[in-house]
Amino acid sequence: MEKIVSLAKRRGFVFPGSEIYGGLANSYEYGPAGVELKKNIQDEWWRVFVRERSDMVGLDSSIILHPKVWEASGHVAGLVDAMVECKQCHTRTRADHLIENHYEAKGEKISVEGKSEAELDAIIQENKIKCPSCGKFDWTPVRKFNLLFETNVGIVPEAQSKVYLRGETAQGIFVSFKNILDSTRVRLPFGVGQIGKSFRNEITKGNFIFRTLEFEQAEIEYFFDPETTDWKGLYEKWKGDMWDFVTGNLGINAEVLRWREHGDEERSFYSKRTEDMEYKFPFGFKELWGLAYRTDYDLNQHMKFSGVDLSYTDPTSGKKFVPHVIEPAVGVNRLMAMVLLDAYTEDGDRVYLKFKPRLAPYKVAIFPLLANKPALVEKARAIHDALQKRFVVAWDDRGNIGKRYYAQDEIGTPFCVTVDFDTLGEGEAENKDTVTVRNRDTGTQERIAIDKLAEFLHGKIYN
Ligand code: GAP
Repeated sequence: MEKIVSLAKRRGFVFPGSEIYGGLANSYEYGPAGVELKKNIQDEWWRVFVRERSDMVGLDSSIILHPKVWEASGHVAGLVDAMVECKQCHTRTRADHLIENHYEAKGEKISVEGKSEAELDAIIQENKIKCPSCGKFDWTPVRKFNLLFETNVGIVPEAQSKVYLRGETAQGIFVSFKNILDSTRVRLPFGVGQIGKSFRNEITKGNFIFRTLEFEQAEIEYFFDPETTDWKGLYEKWKGDMWDFVTGNLGINAEVLRWREHGDEERSFYSKRTEDMEYKFPFGFKELWGLAYRTDYDLNQHMKFSGVDLSYTDPTSGKKFVPHVIEPAVGVNRLMAMVLLDAYTEDGDRVYLKFKPRLAPYKVAIFPLLANKPALVEKARAIHDALQKRFVVAWDDRGNIGKRYYAQDEIGTPFCVTVDFDTLGEGEAENKDTVTVRNRDTGTQERIAIDKLAEFLHGKIYN
């Protein structure tokens, strides 16, 4: 993990948040390489789950929604965590994490999901669990704490009203359900996909970008008629699609993935079944992507709180009912953490990020063999500018070729193209107007004609 965090900073993937002011816990900035990688993961998700499916449409709803949305969803009352505060150093921490980490350190496992504050208190006291920050054992009693960020709308204090930054993108989909029905030709079963920022007042250690204050969620609400669609079959189908995306589109090895079903204590009260796809992070198997059968709970709640009819009328039978929903919900930043960790490869002295070429921040890097030979630089620039219209391209003319390969390997660039004297026709005659293309994973090099280069790269990257 430390190697990845250090590489991520050194090579412009992820920087600590607000670093020049001493940092802000659980917040990060995505640098030039990171923003490309994150965007590629998002685009892949959007392509696979929205654009290439005829049963899906997209949405981009507001971060600030009417405060009643969160009352209806149960977040104002429900999205709360039991916390403790160290009386010595004032560190606040989630009681469940404190207990689970204590047991994990002993090589034991415990599940405290669903336990009351008094029960959590008793476990902390019995085990004399110390503060992870200062090492003292002096806790306040366990208390609830709202994870939703609050802010105010209105410019004068007397006329301000409290609103929340959304804690999940899902609610925006339920709120727009009627407008989607009225403005499109969707018919059940269909899904709505959305990618956008969500905010949670996470106050425990986040493990890099695994858990942060703000994060991008990619969520789907898949609506169906429970009388005509077998939910168990649909649920399994979604499990398959999620698995295929992670193993196929993101290229993750199935051996470091698993499904874990929530027990009765852990599962939200409105969910009939919830399973998490978990990835083996350096800190253990942890939730990557949740799949929940939320029934008709959310639409019913919004009908109740808004007074607006959110039922669906079947255009052929005329049957009117409130659809049920299955929800695959993932964090893009968490997907990115997995992709970065999984791509990290050490081969002797060589370190490289073995991204699927489609996900790599830069697809190809262009090098003039020597920076002080204008003919080489000019030719390399022309190739760079032509390729830039189709790919994200890097340029490097510093140091020697070995150093340039090293730098590109560390950002996972799948192909490096060198323009040399042969390219200019000053070496082997048959190599005129060809370049050397070096493959990141094999280290092998081949000569490709400049006029075939774009097609060659396209075939390798998007095959
Ligand atoms: N609408 C359902 C929902 O939000 P969740 O399990 O709380 O369910 C879904 O969140 C996904 O969002 C998680 O599986 C995880 O990938 C991501 N996620 C949740 N909290 C996060 C955080 N603080 N930082 C980064 N990603 C987070």
